[in-house]
Amino acid sequence: MDKKFKRTLVTCALPYANGPVHIGHLAGVYVPADIYVRYLRMKGEDVLFICGSDEHGVPITIKARKEGVTPQDIVDRYHNIIKKSFTGLGINFDIYSRTSSAVHSKNASEFFRKLYDDDKFITRESEQFFDPEAKVFLADRYITGTCPKCGNPNAYGDQCEKCGSTLSPEELIDPKSALSGSAPVKVKTKHWYLPLDQYEPWLREWILEQHKEWRSNVYGQCKSWLDGGLQPRAVSRDLDWGVPVPVDGAEGKVLYVWFDAPIGYISNTQELLPESWEKWWKSDDSRLIHFIGKDNIVFHCIVFPSMLKAYGSYILPDNVPSNEFLNLENDKISTSRNWAVWLNEYLDEFPGQEDVLRYVLCANAPETKDNDFTWKDYQQRNNSELVAIFGNFVNRAVVLTQKYFGGVVPENAAPSDVDAAALADILPCKKALEEYIETFHFREALKEAMNIARIGNKYISDTEPWQVAKTDMARTASILYTSLQICADLAIAFEPFLPFSAEKLRSILNVSLDAGCDHRAGEGAPTENFYAPGEGRALHTNSVISSERSESRNLLHWSDLGAAELLSPGHRLGENGLLFSKVEDAVVEAQIAKLETARAANAAAAAAKAAAEAASHVEPQKDEVAFEDFEKMDIRTATVLAAERVPKTDKLLKLSIDTGIDQRTIVSGIAEYYSPEEMVGKQICILANLKPRQIRGIESKGMILMAKQGDGKMRLVTPTEALTPGSIIG
Ligand code: MF3
Ligand code: ZN
Repeated sequence: MDKKFKRTLVTCALPYANGPVHIGHLAGVYVPADIYVRYLRMKGEDVLFICGSDEHGVPITIKARKEGVTPQDIVDRYHNIIKKSFTGLGINFDIYSRTSSAVHSKNASEFFRKLYDDDKFITRESEQFFDPEAKVFLADRYITGTCPKCGNPNAYGDQCEKCGSTLSPEELIDPKSALSGSAPVKVKTKHWYLPLDQYEPWLREWILEQHKEWRSNVYGQCKSWLDGGLQPRAVSRDLDWGVPVPVDGAEGKVLYVWFDAPIGYISNTQELLPESWEKWWKSDDSRLIHFIGKDNIVFHCIVFPSMLKAYGSYILPDNVPSNEFLNLENDKISTSRNWAVWLNEYLDEFPGQEDVLRYVLCANAPETKDNDFTWKDYQQRNNSELVAIFGNFVNRAVVLTQKYFGGVVPENAAPSDVDAAALADILPCKKALEEYIETFHFREALKEAMNIARIGNKYISDTEPWQVAKTDMARTASILYTSLQICADLAIAFEPFLPFSAEKLRSILNVSLDAGCDHRAGEGAPTENFYAPGEGRALHTNSVISSERSESRNLLHWSDLGAAELLSPGHRLGENGLLFSKVEDAVVEAQIAKLETARAANAAAAAAKAAAEAASHVEPQKDEVAFEDFEKMDIRTATVLAAERVPKTDKLLKLSIDTGIDQRTIVSGIAEYYSPEEMVGKQICILANLKPRQIRGIESKGMILMAKQGDGKMRLVTPTEALTPGSIIG
């Protein structure tokens, strides 16, 4: 780390508490951030890791309304699911709080108020859509109508989900309020704006000149925003869910969710460290890193820094690593279409397989371009990398040590050049791994860790200790001694990436790790140094670590990675166990089937929706006719006396009817909709004076009146009460 910094504050984008976390979120933000934090901690750096739920915003209110519950119910539900699932994947924030907390409400309010008092805002009156029936202002999302681009009748005021166009409510054809269905009207309302245009010169200098090292996708997006010219941004909304605007005359207004949420990073730090939070946010020797997804770039690189700058005294982000998007089985991940692998479900369905997901998401992280997660790839990477290389090597080294040396690290009795060469190969991996992590290239860093396993696997395959043991025990001792050193290297190198497996490996080797301290106990008090991946607590098989043991190198440090001797001869290993196990075809097929079910459900829902839409389609009015023209039509009631199918046809019924004037035959194409039995005895309406026609050799005199719906379905028109056959309709 850069010498001018003493500590690093790492934040992860606060997930919206309106759904569980899925693999897209994990690959983009949380897994890389966790790797980074674990790595820095192992290097002994002072790190604070902050996250929490983002609990405001319109989508949460919409979801609540849909389910008939309160927004608080929604956020309570998902906050708990999300929080638990992060822990389940070994992502241990120092604090995971929430923007509905009292600390946040106070802090966000105070933040706004200071900018307000310092005259950092401008106000603007604008016309906003208002629901005259529900008597509330309507967020863009609350207005629906027909998309002007593709004709989708269910487009939202901000976006059409069918064609993907960004819209404004003004563009919608036939706009309606989602609350009452009434047509929205425009009403004047006042809001506060942060005049981002005033920050533009400063932002240009700060980002475009001073942060050329930012990832090119981040830098590029910032540049195009800046080149496009910044506009003042509203920081308040007319809504009843959020942090109230703390100003007189602002009733019914709350802080815009993108104003309050990033302040949540600060609030959560305050909640954790009420006495010392400012050290992290307000001293120049603190470094701030935001891990985010690419849809958050403008808010973290332009808007939030401008807010911090306007406030004064805060540090600004030193880097904002942001990933592209992860797709799933060649399709966009979508919450509404349930096209996702949900973390909470994964943890339930794959107990003990946390690291496999971490591995695949990191190995396949969408760092420079969008990427695809497939279950086949998941299986492949597990079976041919984790099991076949890493797991296989460790297992061979440990099993052979048990077999030949009773589970005790043997003496390096007959060293050879190949041993030294294998160990020497680890050093460049370590160096590259460090450089990659420090520059946020996690995929490449993981490859380097895996390369160490490859070195081990190749070494043990080449030296064949199981053969050598037949003739030369001294040499066998050296080979296993060397192999076990590489195992210990792996227990260090994989800790940031695969904490559960690294922990397991350390227990197999009967060693512990100095993984730095966390701040979860509050007030920066270094807590136990050794914690289990899932819990952050001392759960070691050998959790009592005496200084003596640590001297004999049974306590591993990052700096030990690649050292000549990590495990000294005479050290007794722990119990062996498999680090990884094969993922069978059936498991992968079940997951694919689960996705297919979601796809089928989506298709069925879409078809049902389309059918409902078609059914409600109404034909426009026909051209005018004169009353005399209408009078020419002899429309009257009639009763069906008998009905039968016309042979060799699907659609035709031959009906014998009583018209009041006569009994006659009408052939009608209604067999699709009515059976002959249903028709007998029914009162119907007919056009009696239609010129007779021959249909299938039968003379049909007149026509049965039917109503045709938008989807083409026909139903009979019948009198609501029994009438004398032959009553004239007009
Ligand atoms: N909830 C936002 C999202 O999921 C991220 C908010 S990040 C914060 O896109 F900085 F605003 F907190
Ligand atoms: Zn559209």
